[in-house]
Amino acid sequence: MEATSARALAALVGDLATERPPRYAALAGRVRRLVADGRVPLGTRLPAERELAAALAVSRATVTAAYTRLREDGWATARQGAGTFAALPAGPHRGAWVPGPVDDGTVDLAHAAPAAPATVPAALAAALEELPRLLSSHGYHPAGLPDLRARVAERYTARGLPTTPEQVLVTNGALHGVSVAFAALLGRGRRVLVEQPSYPNALQAARALGARVVPVALDADEPAAWVDTAGRTLSAVRPAAAYLMPDFQNPTGVLLDVPGRERLAAALRRSGVPAVVDETFAELGLDAAAPPPLAAFGAGHVSVGTLSKVAWGGLRVGWVRAEADVVRRLTTVAVATSMSGPVVEQLAACVLLDGLDAALPGLRAQLRERRAVLAGELRARLPSWRVPEPAGGLVLWCGLPTPRSRAVVAAAERLGLRLAAGPLFGTGHALDDRLRLPYTQPPEVLRRGIALLARADAAATGARPPAGEPRELAVV
Ligand SMILES: Cc1ncc(COP(=O)(O)O)c(C=O)c1O
Repeated sequence: MEATSARALAALVGDLATERPPRYAALAGRVRRLVADGRVPLGTRLPAERELAAALAVSRATVTAAYTRLREDGWATARQGAGTFAALPAGPHRGAWVPGPVDDGTVDLAHAAPAAPATVPAALAAALEELPRLLSSHGYHPAGLPDLRARVAERYTARGLPTTPEQVLVTNGALHGVSVAFAALLGRGRRVLVEQPSYPNALQAARALGARVVPVALDADEPAAWVDTAGRTLSAVRPAAAYLMPDFQNPTGVLLDVPGRERLAAALRRSGVPAVVDETFAELGLDAAAPPPLAAFGAGHVSVGTLSKVAWGGLRVGWVRAEADVVRRLTTVAVATSMSGPVVEQLAACVLLDGLDAALPGLRAQLRERRAVLAGELRARLPSWRVPEPAGGLVLWCGLPTPRSRAVVAAAERLGLRLAAGPLFGTGHALDDRLRLPYTQPPEVLRRGIALLARADAAATGARPPAGEPRELAVV
């Protein structure tokens, strides 16, 4: 079991004098945040009270009271004679993140989902031409249309992961694929290791099965450190599965390099933990291409992909790639709630995949331009925010100077700007100093959105609003 030294924990806790008294509550609050965002991994043995008191220059009674508070609130457990260990309480469950309405007059900087390019209606028209040859059958294809399974398999093979059509299950989007994989791997009380922050609806899919989410903090500046901590947590906690996004992680944008993939795959293998790898952003490398899929570095993992971000979310076409026997099992899981995917959309997906290599350079160029506009606007209007630019994906994961993401989101809503607050991407207890902003909208919408965001930030902090900015509800 992993332990943290008194010195290491004291360094993470920092200066308690800046917090409101009592001191023990401040210490408990700081440790709680460290456990919540995974910097103190779940199951870590906390230092002996006397040692932590010395390292923090506080009384032992302060540490005793802080540990008691942590235990009472479910953030620590005590084992007779063995010490006190970091734990997670049941935590607030937010429920699924339900997309907001479209075309309601608000500026939408909440959803990282591009509008459909012209290739989508063209592919649907081509699909209708193809359809007659399929109309004489019953129309159910539980694992997906054979032509589509073959194309998805070819794409994986081209990306460095040899795949046969039998290793592909077509799903109604990536979230469906993740849910089907979770349904096969997780269950009540089972644990799933996740990056913190992560994709909210996948976390919710795990929780809906009664699984417990184990977060490991991912700092975009230090992905290698994440792999180390994840490895230690995997061996300490032995979760039933891991849910991972090594390709332009949503929301941090982190791209795991080849050595990182090798080390992560080795850690998963040592602990015997299968990963559900969400590759939703894998083809959206803007400054760098993603290395081969994580499953190319170790057997037994389930890869999940989708057309939602490279074509259109409205198609509802995604897939799972795994060993053929696993795909057969996942097919029976999928059929339990949905007999088959829609045929016309799958025919269109074949056309879109055939044209994807020709379409991707244009999509990437458009996203590069939009990313530059969004980052530029943010730096100009909100200079105190941190705006790191990821090498790919669809979003900026911004750092706010103080925890106020929820307040900014509430103020923005009143101005006609829809946002997704930082804590939405966490496991329930942190990230109010973060805001995820997608660069999927056209430049003029991004400019208008950030002008409104600057006003919302001023309103949330009680500052004077920036001069000369629009006050009325935005209509785009
Ligand atoms: C990481 C991630 N996984 C899954 C999804 C859902 O994708 P789909 O529309 O294919 O279900 C999204 C959508 O934003 C996402 O960002």
